[in-house]
Amino acid sequence: MCGTIKADSLHAFLRSRRSIRHFRPDTVPDAAIQRILASATCAPSAHNRQPGRFVVLTTAASRARLADAMTTDFRQDLERDGVHAEEIAQRVEKSRSRLVTAPVAIVLCLDGSALDLYPDKRRQKAEYVMFVQSVAVAGLQLLLAAQAEGLGSVWICSPLFAPEAVRHSLELPDAWEPQAMFFLGYSARSPQPRTLRPLASVAVWK
Ligand SMILES: Cc1cc2nc3c(=O)[nH]c(=O)nc-3n(C[C@H](O)[C@H](O)[C@H](O)COP(=O)(O)O)c2cc1C
Repeated sequence: MCGTIKADSLHAFLRSRRSIRHFRPDTVPDAAIQRILASATCAPSAHNRQPGRFVVLTTAASRARLADAMTTDFRQDLERDGVHAEEIAQRVEKSRSRLVTAPVAIVLCLDGSALDLYPDKRRQKAEYVMFVQSVAVAGLQLLLAAQAEGLGSVWICSPLFAPEAVRHSLELPDAWEPQAMFFLGYSARSPQPRTLRPLASVAVWK
């Protein structure tokens, strides 16, 4: 990317990305999903190991299966927290309904089989964190690629809290660690304005 105009356009594009949580029911073309995944997989990754794995759910039946598996864990967590039964039922139903009605859900996993192995915990932890960072970068690239396709999207953290349920429900290899999920679709509603921290409060020049 070179030249002032293109840089300005790209900055404007990056700054305009927002999380979209309400979608029109319209189908997302498979070709758009393919382009989004191709861009996500171009993200930088530690050792160029490309540890991100993507599981695409385009049918309500596949999303319902995953939702049922994850909400079992969610319900148990809320029960352990002592949340009132009525509130549990509401929160579980909301979570389930969001996943089932999203036009597309993409589960993002970390393939741990690509990790380098170290004899000590310090370096093994650093290696693992690098992989989590690499997967996160691919996730951001997926969000931006969705925006480039005129789609809204949102990062959903729930698979992190129910990794076994996700792995079992989607019949994933043991080494695939669910890290996140993304909902994609055509936006039905603009997001509320958000507050950003002033640059001067988050960056220092030394
Ligand atoms: C790691 C991560 C986890 C997130 N998990 C959720 C989630 O579970 N549910 C949700 O609605 N949004 C989730 N979000 C979206 C954030 O809430 C959102 O990015 C933030 O509020 C800023 O809004 P914006 O994306 O519109 O700029 C997550 C974002 C990140 C980066």
